[in-house]
Amino acid sequence: MDLIMVKIVYVEHDGTEHSVDVEVGESIMEGAVSNSIPGIDADCGGGGACATCMVFIGDEWKDKVESMTDEEESMIDFHEYKDDNSRLGCQVLVTEEFNGMKVKMPPSQY
Ligand code: FES
Repeated sequence: MDLIMVKIVYVEHDGTEHSVDVEVGESIMEGAVSNSIPGIDADCGGGGACATCMVFIGDEWKDKVESMTDEEESMIDFHEYKDDNSRLGCQVLVTEEFNGMKVKMPPSQY
């Protein structure tokens, strides 16, 4: 089966944009790490246990993303820069509907 790729634009806190192809089924975090995009640390390797993969999903994309679990919400609570658009990048799996999505990174992951 052919891999399905979608375009995701990762935006660093200073506005630098990285437009890359990410495979459907990968997480937002994996898409960043495999493309060497700075700003997502992913210290726990995707276990949902570190909150160093936090990203902000714009309002226009929020309804395309599955809602978060209580576990994810409580990890995000530890993040200094959390806001209403925060998600853990490792907990959001890319679907075809994400094509063209912009995700922003916080000033730091601590
Ligand atoms: Fe650790 Fe996402 S990589 S919470």
